Amino acid sequence: MFKNFTRTLVVLSVLGVSFNSCKQAPTKTRETASSGSITKDWWKKAVVYQIYPRSFKDSNGDGVGDLNGITSELDYIKSLGVNTVWLNPVYSSPNTDNGYDVSDYRAIMKEFGTMADFDVMLKGMHQRGIKLVMDLVVNHSSNQHEWFKQSRSSRTNPYRNYYHWWNAERGKPPYRYSLFDVNHDAWKYDTLTNAYYLHYFSQQQPDLNWENPKVRQEVYGVMKFWADKGIDGFRMDAFQFAAKDTTFPKFPVTGQNFMKYYAIGPHLHDYLQEMNREVYSKYNLMSVAEGAGNSLQDAHDMVDADRHELDMAYAFDGVGIAGPNGYSVLDFKNVFSRWDSAFAKKGWLSIFLANHDQARMVSRFGNDSPQFRAISSKMLNTFLLTMRGTPYIYNGDELGMTNAGFTKISDYNDVALLNEYQHMKNIGGGDLNKFLLLAGKENRDNSRTPFPWSNLANAGFTTGKPWLKINPNYTTINASAEEKDPNSCLNYFKKITKLRADNPVLVYGKYTLLDKSNPNVYAYTRETDGRKMLVLLNFKSVAAEAKTGLDMSKAKVLLGNYPAPSKDGKLKPYEAVVYQL
Ligand code: NOJ
Ligand code: CA
Repeated sequence: MFKNFTRTLVVLSVLGVSFNSCKQAPTKTRETASSGSITKDWWKKAVVYQIYPRSFKDSNGDGVGDLNGITSELDYIKSLGVNTVWLNPVYSSPNTDNGYDVSDYRAIMKEFGTMADFDVMLKGMHQRGIKLVMDLVVNHSSNQHEWFKQSRSSRTNPYRNYYHWWNAERGKPPYRYSLFDVNHDAWKYDTLTNAYYLHYFSQQQPDLNWENPKVRQEVYGVMKFWADKGIDGFRMDAFQFAAKDTTFPKFPVTGQNFMKYYAIGPHLHDYLQEMNREVYSKYNLMSVAEGAGNSLQDAHDMVDADRHELDMAYAFDGVGIAGPNGYSVLDFKNVFSRWDSAFAKKGWLSIFLANHDQARMVSRFGNDSPQFRAISSKMLNTFLLTMRGTPYIYNGDELGMTNAGFTKISDYNDVALLNEYQHMKNIGGGDLNKFLLLAGKENRDNSRTPFPWSNLANAGFTTGKPWLKINPNYTTINASAEEKDPNSCLNYFKKITKLRADNPVLVYGKYTLLDKSNPNVYAYTRETDGRKMLVLLNFKSVAAEAKTGLDMSKAKVLLGNYPAPSKDGKLKPYEAVVYQL
């Protein structure tokens, strides 16, 4: 029954909500485009740079990245040409899941610094014209949160219904799958009150009960706290799991319709609309939730401006397409074209190929061999920055960072991976070597290795012992070396963000897929207001040819990842070219 379940859940686990907050601007400002009905909200022009704070820059030598480290590199962030930062959670947390287990939503994690450090960082971003989107983790809290401590203390505690409890005299609760649990069991028995509590993720991450209006008001209070500080939006973690059938019926024995009990329940849209009324509508915040529902209709409903829920969808179909043995370029084009067409007139999408839950972009979607790493990474960044939708760039992908090369279980930190490894050992019979080989290709710790600032000790990330091993290729792949090399991934990245900033057609222009059945080349145009651009991307390590049928006689090359691109559709391995037509 649970074949492909984990994958489905990972897909579902992203439901985006972003807000744009500003105390002085209580209503959302929308500027209507000169042509068509698409509004020019600031978040459509955003180029989002995702920072994994634990691994970005350590300022005090404890081996863990922190807020002062980020503040010290704001000029670097600005130099990339990005205008928005999405910061993974920085709230107080015992760090079972690196901040995705929050013990106090109104405080900063000790390892990351203080609230004063946060204020300095936020001010520094705003001074540079960079907006800040915070992660909001409210499908679950940490079991160390005061709400949970109260909740578990007795059956009559006022916080009892903040979480999902099942009294043991009712028998064992109907099975629910846990993504991170050693036994895959989402119910944990607690002797203290002779009851089970629900945790879709690890045992230390109990699910909050969204059916309880008090819980929802608590969350809106937290959101307002940060909005009043002046942050610019929220990315809502795993929010689709918040809406579930709390009668906990037995899963059907066959078929896939168990998802309707598990996540994306009927109240999902009610919650989002209430949240919009209570918070988003009162601030100028961007909202994006992790995941985009069960269907294009779901996704659409979440971000249809007339429904007053979220601003943009963050769908996993694209990033989910690459498996350990690669992917089909035709499938890739299909997925992105399908999603674009669903949002061509209304709603808005996020465009991404990586984040802190995926292995590195170039290793999955490009080619991380020494011969092709840089060129294929430039090609992928060209894709991200020329598509319709808000691009999200995961930190380090501007440098073309690769997978970590971990081979031993002791190299890893990820709670999901460590528990799954233990699970396999417990049940016996699984091939642990195969498991580690796969992890080396796909596990999320591949993208969490410390950011390589230079070729100095510990990649210039820390003066102490880094919390996770540094990728040994930092000696050549690092920001300082790439800044000096005019042909580096980093300098190419700056050119492509500038191209997007200078050409609104790349933000708002209509997307049209060309040469649809070409198995190697992704070709598309973007056009609006009489301007038209053509993008050719060779996704393969061999030469290829695009047949677009377009008149190229007046075409002008605006950018390419090789010198002197041709205009005859012939492309070198992983070549990317952007033309003005
Ligand atoms: C999705 C987050 O992106 C991931 O890192 C986290 O482990 C789970 N949600 C649980 O919060
Ligand atoms: Ca530190």
